[in-house]
Amino acid sequence: MRVIRAVAAMQRLADRLRSGGRLGFVPTMGHLHEGHLSLVRICRKHSDFVVVSIFVNPTQFGPDEDLRQYPRDFGRDRGLLDREGTDVIFYPSAEAMYPAGFATYVRVEELTQGLCGRFRPVHFQGVTTVVAKLFNIVRPDLAVFGQKDAQQAFVIRRMARDLDFGTKIIIAPTIREPDGLAMSSRNCYLTRAQRMQAPVLYRSLKLGRRLVQEGEQNPATVKRRMRQVIKKESGARMQYIEIVDTEELKPVKRIKGRVLIALAAFLGRTRLIDNIIVRLRNNRQERQGRQERKTTDKHR
Ligand code: PAJ
Repeated sequence: MRVIRAVAAMQRLADRLRSGGRLGFVPTMGHLHEGHLSLVRICRKHSDFVVVSIFVNPTQFGPDEDLRQYPRDFGRDRGLLDREGTDVIFYPSAEAMYPAGFATYVRVEELTQGLCGRFRPVHFQGVTTVVAKLFNIVRPDLAVFGQKDAQQAFVIRRMARDLDFGTKIIIAPTIREPDGLAMSSRNCYLTRAQRMQAPVLYRSLKLGRRLVQEGEQNPATVKRRMRQVIKKESGARMQYIEIVDTEELKPVKRIKGRVLIALAAFLGRTRLIDNIIVRLRNNRQERQGRQERKTTDKHR
């Protein structure tokens, strides 16, 4: 496994690897956990060479966010990636990625307005700018992103399509702790008490999914029931719960087809996000769900 720090050296090596097979890429900010490693394994399956980048990207953090305290442990990450059979780690410095005079940003409109974008105004512009740069440096055939950050994955997929990067974007399932909490580099900020409460977020998402599958079509009802669970079982402060379509990420008026139920909440000062995608297979099934629910309600 090679560790490359300079942009030009990474470009040269990527060009060489690409001429020998399919080049897969997994961008990360390090402090790796099983969620990241699952992306590396998926990447491995689809490509001949795997490049993983580790770069805590300053432009995607807001002024009040955790850029300085964001956990970093290159030695540990390197060991983990070596064990996964990674071919190259790209580990640039902030100066290499953003030299003096840097002035160009990539912005995806619309898709970045709602959900997290509403509360983190510079975040997605930072993400798309750094990912566009990384794609230009590595020029991968495919890149893997996690559904854990669903809005990010959809925004990057749109950027790759709109700007003709020619990179296939694979979205991989969310890896969770045994109690359901989505793995995240930020989970290490939680106190013991907060950590015990945190799985309520996934429980509320599962409740939302169940209600929808049982035929509930009113997003307000689903969101209210989810909020109730979170309020009853934790001290979490909700930032948002939204039910949106999976194309434009716009809130739906009536739940049908395929929807993303997404939320963000603070446990103390730590902001956690999670989501679930629900697919309703057909109308007959929706009606059947509603019918079954009525029957169960009658017998309650
Ligand atoms: P980071 O938070 O390190 O995440 C890197 C990748 O791992 C992202 O695609 C993210 O969605 C995925 N990931 C995180 N937790 C996961 C989990 N529990 N299960 C599955 N995948 C998970 O996301 C970023 O970094 C940055 O914004 C980046 C894309 C690298 C741009 O700076």
